[in-house]
Amino acid sequence: MRKPFVAGNWKMNKTSAQGVALVNELLPAIIGYDRVERVVCPSYLAVPAVSARLQGSPVGVGTQDLYWETSGAYTGEVAPDMVKEFCQYVIIGHSERRAKFGETDESVNKKVKAALAAGLVAIMCVGETLEENEAGQTEAVVSRQVREGLNGLVTAAMENVVIAYEPVWAIGTGRAASAEGANAVIKDFIRKPVAALFDEKTAQSVRVLYGGSVTGANAREFFSQPDIDGALVGGASLKPVDFTAIVAAAAER
Ligand code: PGA
Repeated sequence: MRKPFVAGNWKMNKTSAQGVALVNELLPAIIGYDRVERVVCPSYLAVPAVSARLQGSPVGVGTQDLYWETSGAYTGEVAPDMVKEFCQYVIIGHSERRAKFGETDESVNKKVKAALAAGLVAIMCVGETLEENEAGQTEAVVSRQVREGLNGLVTAAMENVVIAYEPVWAIGTGRAASAEGANAVIKDFIRKPVAALFDEKTAQSVRVLYGGSVTGANAREFFSQPDIDGALVGGASLKPVDFTAIVAAAAER
């Protein structure tokens, strides 16, 4: 049985003080849902304060990216061990990084490997754009991102990988995918390539999330699908009531 997983991607929102205020409100509301692995991902600069506030709590902390090198002349970048000092998780390959900051399948793969080597859980994002979707390329794009992102990993490392299916057209648009459609992509274009890369057992045990306009109102529908194990939540993760409703829905899975 795959443990439900809900992660909040705060994106470039919340200062350190605002982030602490947010978790002060959120923590009492979600603390009881032990069936669900719960994670918040603030901006780098808010991570230390949020992580200190969540110390000893069941809510984990992640960053929204990292760099694969361990140290050196990489101005502006953050190394895996620097993340590990405060966090247990890292989001890698978010579509905003792919579209706006030149992230490629190759850099995603390097980052996933570096994250795992540092002992982090990698939340690897995949998903097709609207144009790709309309051109019937969803299978080609998503399965390629899965194959190339996970290329060269040993099977055992997959225990620390979570995959998030985030169709780009559904992110921040209020236009979520249909639950059945997302489930079909996850089953056929994510779990199948994972089975081909590793084995059927890994394909069935890896956790796969849906992301893209998930709200307190629609989360239950996604989580009622057999292949959707949770959500990567953007906008609604900044609203404690909504995020709590999503965690509560995941607990019923
Ligand atoms: P959204 O973002 O929930 O605001 O659509 C999801 C994400 O980008 O991870």
